[in-house]
Amino acid sequence: MAAWLLNTLKSLVVLAYGFTGLLYYGLAAVKLGFFFKKPTEKEELELQIARDKFWNLSKDWSGFAHHILTLRSGFKFHYVCNDQGVTDQDKPVVVFIHGFPDSWVIWRHVLSSSSLQESATLIAVDMPGYGGSDSLDNYSATNVLESLTEFVIAIRAKYGVDTEAGPRQKKLTIVGHDWGCVVSMRLAAEAPQLADRFILTNGPLPRHSGSNVRRLISTSVKMVKTASRDPFRSRSMFSKAFSTLSPVLRQLWKSKYIFAFQLPMFLVRYLGRGGYYSFLKMIHRGSYGKREFTSQDAAECLASTMGPSTAESNTQTADGEEYSASLKNERAPSSFQHMACYYRDGTSMARWNNGSNGTGLFDDGPKGALKASATILWGKADIALEPQICLDGISDYLVTDSQLVELSLSGHFTPVERESQVALEKAVEWAVKGEKEDIGAVIKACYPTAVVALRK
Ligand SMILES: *[C@@H]1O[C@H](CO)[C@@H](O)[C@H](O)[C@H]1NC(C)=O
Ligand SMILES: *[C@@H]1O[C@H](CO)[C@@H](O)[C@H](O)[C@H]1NC(C)=O
Ligand SMILES: *[C@@H]1O[C@H](CO)[C@@H](O)[C@H](O)[C@H]1NC(C)=O
Ligand SMILES: *[C@@H]1O[C@H](CO)[C@@H](O)[C@H](O)[C@H]1NC(C)=O
Repeated sequence: MAAWLLNTLKSLVVLAYGFTGLLYYGLAAVKLGFFFKKPTEKEELELQIARDKFWNLSKDWSGFAHHILTLRSGFKFHYVCNDQGVTDQDKPVVVFIHGFPDSWVIWRHVLSSSSLQESATLIAVDMPGYGGSDSLDNYSATNVLESLTEFVIAIRAKYGVDTEAGPRQKKLTIVGHDWGCVVSMRLAAEAPQLADRFILTNGPLPRHSGSNVRRLISTSVKMVKTASRDPFRSRSMFSKAFSTLSPVLRQLWKSKYIFAFQLPMFLVRYLGRGGYYSFLKMIHRGSYGKREFTSQDAAECLASTMGPSTAESNTQTADGEEYSASLKNERAPSSFQHMACYYRDGTSMARWNNGSNGTGLFDDGPKGALKASATILWGKADIALEPQICLDGISDYLVTDSQLVELSLSGHFTPVERESQVALEKAVEWAVKGEKEDIGAVIKACYPTAVVALRK
């Protein structure tokens, strides 16, 4: 009975806070002038052009061709790749995994680098339920991690990383941002053989952040307990307890959208579409940081989030491959509901039921610790993530040859903001060219205020 009461109370608090979040975004959208602003004819046209540019399977984008990769289960991944066949056999491979609320298109600035294109086979995939990839029944950790693992294994075979001559014929690097970073961290922890290096940017390591939150809460509770024994003489102790807790409170405020995603689905759908997509438009505007944001950029961001429209969903690649039926039949107007399910179905933390019982060779380190070399590039002015919660003590979760590089001037969308985009590009180039120089020197050459906060 007590447990039932506690759970009901918990759900009510979550719903109430979620509702507050929904209201907040609605009011913000009204205040910023997005909510009632019907798209002009020009904007509609620009969106149509952008969707054709990024999602028409019969067209290359900037030397990248579209591909559909079908798993044994029949699940269809969509990705783009610059590989033009036999000539690229020797190049190392890089797989880019985007986050919320994006698609492969978030990498368009990084993928445009001609020196990266020359030195590697670049693959940018759409996560399940996003962009041009198929939908899952639900976005449980097992479903998401299993499908991505099978994708990477298939890519390793197709692009000559693992061949008949043996595994690891050349290097494979995984680059993840936001949710792409969260799932890449899980892969680095639970399937580290998939890549030789993980480059991870602005996405939390959930077990580690959770442990930081619990530590800060319990420290501040202890302080309050001590202080209450002599309340008059321990005013400074109370304020210390409050300042200890403040990163948690700030993170809670930043996370209100996650609570809004727990609301009944019709409200979540409304958040994704209401006010002419104003919630998404606010995120898109913010993602550019100080970078100039034209109406074409706005259209490209929206095309990235929305994926193929009904028109593009009926196109074909040169090999006659098509988008999945789920995309054609259901998702063409919007994938928002599927994106929100990552926050509802426990993708970040729940057990990965893969038949293995998890007692592997490398079960040292705290729960969730990465087992592969990782380079974390972190925009410290992130509006969604508190650095004290996401970075403090992360050293315990990293293995040798790992680094944390802090980018003080950049926000959450490191693949888009101008300075961090270059830093990311250079980090990927460093990895594909054999990690010869010092990563700190490489990044400081293009981002002078970058700080290597940690090396292992
Ligand atoms: C999620 O989907 C899988 C099949 O794709 C199913 O086995 C599993 O029971 C589902 N989980 C939940 C919580 O619905
Ligand atoms: C499977 O799941 C277990 C437990 O969640 C995990 O430790 C293991 O590394 C997973 N990976 C693979 C590829 O089996
Ligand atoms: C896709 O691109 C091809 C080639 O440019 C074009 O002929 C076709 O009309 C486009 N399809 C759609 C649905 O826009
Ligand atoms: C887990 O796997 C290990 C090694 O494969 C095995 O020795 C152990 O008995 C298994 N434990 C359980 C509970 O299945």
